[in-house]
Amino acid sequence: MKRAGSLAGMATLALLALAGCDLPGKPKAGPEVPRPEEVLAFETLYAANCAGCHGAHGQDGAATNLANPKYQALVDDGSMREVIAKGMKGTLMPAFAQENGGMLTDAQIDALVQGMRANWRRPDAFGGETPPPYKATHAGNAEKGQAVYAIACARCHGPSAQQRGEAGSILDGSFLALINEQTVRTTVIPGRPDIGEPDWRGHIPGRAMTDDEITDVSAWLMSQRPANPGQPYPAVSTAAEKPGEKQASALKH
Ligand code: HEC
Ligand code: HEC
Repeated sequence: MKRAGSLAGMATLALLALAGCDLPGKPKAGPEVPRPEEVLAFETLYAANCAGCHGAHGQDGAATNLANPKYQALVDDGSMREVIAKGMKGTLMPAFAQENGGMLTDAQIDALVQGMRANWRRPDAFGGETPPPYKATHAGNAEKGQAVYAIACARCHGPSAQQRGEAGSILDGSFLALINEQTVRTTVIPGRPDIGEPDWRGHIPGRAMTDDEITDVSAWLMSQRPANPGQPYPAVSTAAEKPGEKQASALKH
């Protein structure tokens, strides 16, 4: 599937980002070149650190559509800052803050958040309507989420991993292994105009999705995440696996 493939390509980019150490014998930069941690221009910071995954202008990348004004209207500064500083568990979003092993200072992370706001936020992105909140307020019910998938997602993404819809399967194990519940929320509520994902009002014909439906469908999708992504024979044990662990992982299926 196209989306899964491009997400996997980001793993390579993440590794390249880590490999930025000095080589022995490499001449030191001249005084006219600013030290990397002194760069505070949004365009430079975004191009060097983010564009490879999120797209040159915050769109058409493998990772989410940051330039979508509806995404910018949905997410608060604190949540954005936290994701950039600490990364996003369960996805390929790296941690950028120096205290978390990244290369950006607090001032640079602030410059990125402010730059995204200045370039991509638009007043009244939702036309006066109030979207469900950015973060889920309670755990989702996966069983109810399966029924939500059938009415809100299946017409485009297909009823099962085997029967794919026109938009490609999001039930593919290799794809699910690269996203988390927040990714589903962030895709469904503001939509992704760059790839043709509608916002929360365009999934179910005739009405908007409710907050609970979005929470439940996110939980159900993540419950379909395979224990051993990319492994077609989940029952085969590895040498390191203890017998108890094997039973526990077999029970998850
Ligand atoms: C190696 C690829 C990669 C790089 C580089 C990267 N991101 Fe991400 N980012 C991801 C992935 C994957 C996700 C989670 C899945 C998704 O949202 O598509 C994500 C998620 C995010 C989110 C949260 C989206 C949400 O759900 O609210 C923000 C904000 C973000 N990235 C900003 C940035 C910024 C700013 C930079 C540059 C400093 C950056 N990212 C660099 C891959 C990357
Ligand atoms: C009107 C059609 C349509 C409906 C309904 C729809 N989607 Fe999508 N969705 C798309 C398209 C088009 C893409 C882009 C597919 C691609 O690039 O392979 C997409 C992509 C996605 C992605 C991948 C985003 C990424 O990071 O690559 C996720 C996650 C997703 N949809 C979730 C959902 C969920 C959950 C539902 C049900 C609540 C849903 N979609 C309903 C059209 C739809």
